Amino acid sequence: MTTDHNSFQAAILQGIPATLPPKHQFPARVNRAPKRKDILSQEEKHLAIRNALRYFPKKWHAELAREFAEELQDYGRIYMYRFKPNYKLYARPLSDYPAQSQQAAALMLMIQNNLDPAVAQHPEELITYGGNGAVFQNWAQYTLCMHYLAQMTDEQSLHLYSGHPMGLFPSSKNAPRVVVTNGMMIPNYSKPDDWEKFNALGVTQYGQMTAGSFMYIGPQGIVHGTTITLLNASRKILKSDENCRGKIFLTAGLGGMSGAQPKAGNICGCITICAEVNPKAALKRHQQGWVDLLIDKLDDLVARVRTAKKNEEVVSMAYIGNVVDVWERFDQEDIQIHLGSDQTSLHIPWTGGYYPVSLSYEEANSMLQENPAAFKKEVQQSLRRHAAIIQKHTDKGTYFFDYGNAFLLEASRAGADIMAENKIDFKYPSYVQDILGPLCFDYGFGPFRWVCASGKEEDLDRTDAIALAVLEEINTTAPPQIQMQLQDNIQEK
Ligand SMILES: NC(=O)c1ccc[n+]([C@@H]2O[C@H](COP(=O)([O-])OP(=O)(O)OC[C@H]3O[C@@H](n4cnc5c(N)ncnc54)[C@H](O)[C@@H]3O)[C@@H](O)[C@H]2O)c1
Repeated sequence: MTTDHNSFQAAILQGIPATLPPKHQFPARVNRAPKRKDILSQEEKHLAIRNALRYFPKKWHAELAREFAEELQDYGRIYMYRFKPNYKLYARPLSDYPAQSQQAAALMLMIQNNLDPAVAQHPEELITYGGNGAVFQNWAQYTLCMHYLAQMTDEQSLHLYSGHPMGLFPSSKNAPRVVVTNGMMIPNYSKPDDWEKFNALGVTQYGQMTAGSFMYIGPQGIVHGTTITLLNASRKILKSDENCRGKIFLTAGLGGMSGAQPKAGNICGCITICAEVNPKAALKRHQQGWVDLLIDKLDDLVARVRTAKKNEEVVSMAYIGNVVDVWERFDQEDIQIHLGSDQTSLHIPWTGGYYPVSLSYEEANSMLQENPAAFKKEVQQSLRRHAAIIQKHTDKGTYFFDYGNAFLLEASRAGADIMAENKIDFKYPSYVQDILGPLCFDYGFGPFRWVCASGKEEDLDRTDAIALAVLEEINTTAPPQIQMQLQDNIQEK
């Protein structure tokens, strides 16, 4: 065993360190979370600090109280950066974790994967994806949770309340090892500002679907679902003898989930254009191989798309800029978009989930901090413009669908012309209701994932081979209406 390995195990077993660690140094070029809204009154700020101090011995309180007050001031949250561990955060092979229970070790693996800088959107702030999808609220919760998991037996369960560990409880071998709740809010007090306030107080967090439950496995976890969505969306517009070759898919977002779109486009065999305003996010996905090309000028994009179309290439392009600009330019250039969607984070439209087309990325970030009310107006205006240009394309035959990111909802709230004639439905379909639901879920198909906990390539290949053999066998006797879905899964490699 190496010293690194020993000190990693020792740090996990220790939990909150015995001596106060030095102040945190932020790594260079890390993608930091935007400053959150300054939403607490003076009295509530004191409460937030008292809540934070409960994890630490009294003798540190004076020093930490000052530091946490500064974090609240500078970032709108108390992340307890000083307690971020020194060891590297990544999914180690299961055998590297100090543990009494293999299930607990597997959870430690998943937690560290969620916080790996190569995986997480804002690793310093424990945000995995979706702008606010948190694994824990702060580094003390992380440290304590790992410490509990290392001690846990197969007859105990750890209970977590929005990242806060409530402790180990006796349970049976068949019970879950960890029970998690996230984002618990009383419905009448769950407007965005209520949520911001309780998160700033340190009493609730938004775990998204897979960050706060430690299941996130990067765009890898969503690439299967995105591929089957695209394949089935294309079935809505293609003739039975056509495939995706030479067809154009335009969308936005190269973040946590959205980053899977270009790879899914490649698997389907089309030309994918994915706009991303944050150059760091685009670069990361390009370096990781999730998208083939990075393009930062609209003229270059248009030229490259024309070539790809002429040669019927299978290629994916990240355009570094605003997606509305691409929709508008393609309209002027008469480039036909076959499939259109959007995965900007419109579930959090006012806090940086959606960047308005009227501002540069830097201008938008400044306005977001200095004048949130003006920022909201820009977002609403941009959404109206966004919906209007989509309409121009759908009039020319584009199949546009909502990707569960609340695009249709927020565009309608912004006053965009997006409602159907009955004023109840939207003009455009949505991916679960109209695509995955009737074509996949209704037949028992859906996106799913597995994790190779040994960390060995050969084990992963074995599980792939087993899955392939099972699918091929089922396909020999499957009724015709599901054969197409089985075939899609067999083809995905
Ligand atoms: N993929 C799925 O299966 C799925 C399912 C349900 C919901 N969603 C929703 O999709 C959204 C995206 O999820 P994510 O995890 O990728 O979020 P994310 O915040 O990690 O990524 C969104 C990206 O969009 C970029 N962006 C914002 N406005 C833009 C604009 N106008 N033009 C170009 N780029 C812009 C942001 O810079 C960010 O990188 C969320 O609302 C999520 O809830 C996705």
